[in-house]
Amino acid sequence: MNPLDHLVEPQEYPPPPALAAQAHVAGRAGYASLAAEAEEDHEAYWARLAREFVHWKRPFRKLLGTQNAPHYTWFEDGTLNVSWNCLDRQVAEGRGEKVAIIFEADDGHVTHTTYAQLLAMVCRLANMLKAQGVKKGDRVAIYMPMSVEAVACMQACARIGAIHTVVFGGFSAHSLRDRIADTGAVLVLTADEQMRGGKALSLKGVVDEALALGGCDAVRAVIVYRRTGGQIPWTDRDHWMHELTAAQPERCEPVWVEAEHPLFLLYTSGSTGKPKGVQHSSGGYLVQAAVTMKWTFDMHPQDVFWCTADIGWVTGHSYIAYGPLAIGATQLMFEGVPTWPNAGRFWQMIGRHRVTVFYTAPTAIRSLIKAAEANPQVHPQRYDLQSLRVLGSVGEPINPAAWEWYHRHVGGGRCPIVDTWWQTETGAHMITPLPGATSLVPGSCALPFPGIAAAIVDELGGDVPNGQSGLLVIKKPWPGMIRTIWGDDARYRASYFPAELRGYYLAGDGASRDRETGYFTIGGRIDDVLNVSGHRMGTMEIESALVACTELVAEAAVVGRPDETSGEAICAFVVLKGARPQGEAAAALAAQLRTWVGKEIGPIAKPKDIRFADNLPKTRSGKIMRRLLRSVAKGEAVTQDISTLENPAILHQLFETH
Ligand code: PRX
Repeated sequence: MNPLDHLVEPQEYPPPPALAAQAHVAGRAGYASLAAEAEEDHEAYWARLAREFVHWKRPFRKLLGTQNAPHYTWFEDGTLNVSWNCLDRQVAEGRGEKVAIIFEADDGHVTHTTYAQLLAMVCRLANMLKAQGVKKGDRVAIYMPMSVEAVACMQACARIGAIHTVVFGGFSAHSLRDRIADTGAVLVLTADEQMRGGKALSLKGVVDEALALGGCDAVRAVIVYRRTGGQIPWTDRDHWMHELTAAQPERCEPVWVEAEHPLFLLYTSGSTGKPKGVQHSSGGYLVQAAVTMKWTFDMHPQDVFWCTADIGWVTGHSYIAYGPLAIGATQLMFEGVPTWPNAGRFWQMIGRHRVTVFYTAPTAIRSLIKAAEANPQVHPQRYDLQSLRVLGSVGEPINPAAWEWYHRHVGGGRCPIVDTWWQTETGAHMITPLPGATSLVPGSCALPFPGIAAAIVDELGGDVPNGQSGLLVIKKPWPGMIRTIWGDDARYRASYFPAELRGYYLAGDGASRDRETGYFTIGGRIDDVLNVSGHRMGTMEIESALVACTELVAEAAVVGRPDETSGEAICAFVVLKGARPQGEAAAALAAQLRTWVGKEIGPIAKPKDIRFADNLPKTRSGKIMRRLLRSVAKGEAVTQDISTLENPAILHQLFETH
């Protein structure tokens, strides 16, 4: 928590009356009637929305399928095409000339792409994929910068029933290789370079490195979007995207797929060293992405939506690549970083493009607060933010002090903030205020989205009374839910549906509900998953990366500690093969290991603190005492019972190196 938080008086913010009057879900009564409809007949409620929000080629009769629970199905006998829903349908309904994507490049250059133009682009890409032999069900890896082309590539896969797996451009060659290998991708779509903060960073070079690591035998070709024109290595396997698409026709019949056909795989961290390939469906996923897009952000036809997430994360899937297009919205997409050329970039862009709905992460807000405090020139009050109506937050808890600042200085005190709790696995928003219906309490994500059976239970699945903490679970299946972990059904069942929890979905977060209002507050992960700047990282992944440095590292343990800006910071305890270094030698080795982890996983996984010890604190049975390490990382007094510690002397050393 931020030290300023205790200065903030908790206050409730009712929906602004003018906004509520026009809202899709209006007032407490609007919310209550939807929640009651879902309560009365969960399946019929979602089926009504599925028919309202999605065009089905073959209408479904089946609603929820439980035969193979917990691998649930939704609308199983229906067929659809996601890209047809996002593009052709918008054109058919008269939105062909409407701007789908306003794109602002790192250098400030702006382009506008209409729905008709985006459709033509997607069709050319889809035809190109077909010409490369890509078929329904094949996997295609996408390692691209934030660009209209990247969204178009995702949509092109959807158009022909290929399953995309987008890999965040900040991941290293190793991480990329693991994802390509695990999915058995047949193509890699990438760019020569990406531009961030005025710097060109290689992407194609990383793809080459990844493929050279081996295990990616299914890859037939690498197709390169020319972003910068910078010098890049080239092999026989590589093709320029513009050359391959130039001759392709602007029309491409969509492949109608079954509702359960996988739309994409997206890797996320769990409690083992190996990331999980979260598999999402086409039908149920699209339904929930579209409904939440419209209701959570209260989107109207004239709105300009801006989600600052990267397409490499689930937020960029549901609220850039699919949700906004599925409801025919205009959205802004940004290539660069919030602090370049200065930390006023977001505020300047909101004014420039008349953004009405702005969706970002608490980490970004916290770092922009810091920047504005240091330099009044980049304070949001110096910019024209009058166009804003609704603000959103995602990815991590937003502390009340940051919430209040966001509300006051960005939203001018008039814009509701929707603090949306959800996960890669949930596909779309699960617990969130609705701007025209919910009174806001800073730091709380309020109430479940209508139709989401969120609850807090104890270790045996028993309900926990309001006011007490417990495990956050979802009691009933929902359309946008994960279907399985790619290639590992057993891990899916064990991770999310542990036997003792009565068939509930286990989110992996601790939470509590307010005694009176029933509002949810998320307490953070209960497993070995960290949330660093809104990025989800497994401690085991970082440990595996460290011990992979076999020349130096004998053993490593990674824990998180609270951090004012990034939410959590990564703290690594390392036992070296050689003697424990001191002073400058320790600093140099720590730097070397940070670089190593950056290469193994990506820069986001670099530990902030690295401490060297002769040994790790272990129980007599050899288990590392992580809770103790967490206390040490925080610099707080150890209150745990250390009588079971095999080597109590080590404790002294861990503190000494602090
Ligand atoms: O711990 C919760 C936190 O982020 C986790 C999910 O991370 P990921 O799958 O990467 O998806 C992030 C974008 C949806 C959750 O288990 N989290 C997400 N949103 C919130 C949150 N914690 C508190 N408040 C939120 N609004």
